[in-house]
Amino acid sequence: MLPAHFKHVPLDKSYRLMNHGPTVLVSAQHGGVTNVMAAAWACVLDYGNTPKVTVVLDKATRTRELVEASGFFALQLPTKAMATLTCRVGSDSAKDVPDKLLKHGVKTFTAPDTDIPLVEGCVGWLACRLVPEPHNQQTYDLFIGDVIGAWADDRVFRDGHWHFDDAPDDLRTIHHVAGGQFLVTGEVVQG
Ligand SMILES: Cc1cc2nc3c(=O)[nH]c(=O)nc-3n(C[C@H](O)[C@H](O)[C@H](O)COP(=O)(O)O)c2cc1C
Repeated sequence: MLPAHFKHVPLDKSYRLMNHGPTVLVSAQHGGVTNVMAAAWACVLDYGNTPKVTVVLDKATRTRELVEASGFFALQLPTKAMATLTCRVGSDSAKDVPDKLLKHGVKTFTAPDTDIPLVEGCVGWLACRLVPEPHNQQTYDLFIGDVIGAWADDRVFRDGHWHFDDAPDDLRTIHHVAGGQFLVTGEVVQG
């Protein structure tokens, strides 16, 4: 017998069961051009001494071109206070709005010892070197990165753990469901 409350979810909505993993901002630069887009489809692929991440970058995005050209990108965690900014950089493309970062008040700084732009106001940053996988990139828009540097805002992440409960609510990370609706990271539960 199936458990109580066990209800079918249509396959075309099934991704939403996983989609409240943290939404990220993807940043990259090449040839003096810096860009940032939103991505909900980002994931950890490996940890330990060889951490890796994946992110889906649609062929239509300007950011993907910069990642492919430079071989580097960053994933970073925007906060509740940045939900509107996240939607805006995830709606406008730099192909149509070349000054989209200026327009939406996105400020960047450079990751230590790299040329990779990072977005101010986020609470976690992963600088990544692209692991070229042309088949995955072309067929699935799936990009893999070796994490070469990681940083976090120590008001919310320290000693290897998130501490959202001790910090301003606006610093909680956000998790996109659909249509600009986000869930906010909740309370800590020790399992
Ligand atoms: C919350 C949110 C999540 C998104 N997730 C993704 C994603 O995982 N992959 C992707 O290719 N585009 C995603 N997008 C769309 C891109 O961010 C969007 O196409 C953006 O305008 C690309 O910007 P660019 O062309 O300037 O790089 C998302 C948009 C939003 C608002």
